[in-house]
Amino acid sequence: MNESFDIDAMVDRLRDAAAGEDAPRRVRAIIEEVVADPDLLAAAVPHYGKDVVLFEDDTVSIWYAHFDPGKMVPAHDHQMSAVIGVFRGQERNNFYEADGEGGLRKSSDVVLGPGDVLSIGPSAIHSVACVSAVPCNGFHVYMGELTTVERSLFDVKAGKRLPFDEASYAALIGADDG
Ligand SMILES: [Fe+2]
Repeated sequence: MNESFDIDAMVDRLRDAAAGEDAPRRVRAIIEEVVADPDLLAAAVPHYGKDVVLFEDDTVSIWYAHFDPGKMVPAHDHQMSAVIGVFRGQERNNFYEADGEGGLRKSSDVVLGPGDVLSIGPSAIHSVACVSAVPCNGFHVYMGELTTVERSLFDVKAGKRLPFDEASYAALIGADDG
């Protein structure tokens, strides 16, 4: 990691890695390198204050992620592998799996802080909550075109799968699934 950080250069490297063989592993290696100096990154990357899609095509979607304290993104899937790297704040990921009765149960959770990287498989279901007093920021890289793929949201308490759309999102937002 150099003194400075070039976000466009990172995007170029991630695009190259995602287009080739072994994309999730190669993308993870880049994200691990990038967030290895989280303080430098936090100082160098603009405070966008919201999610920003840095790049998307049919091989990769690269997001700058922003979560305000206390905010939770309801349980959802991606239908593609993903790599998450955090450089500011903390996010708690709850993971869910089918309970065999048509519903979901929480299977695990992990809190990611500055410098942490998490790889998620294509069938994983998770919710994400900012659990720090400061906003949580990171880079999220998905091995495909995230905004166009058909995905699901999940009402964990009701055991219901919903289409990933604005109405479902609005209905589930703010639900604390612990
Ligand atoms: Fe996600």
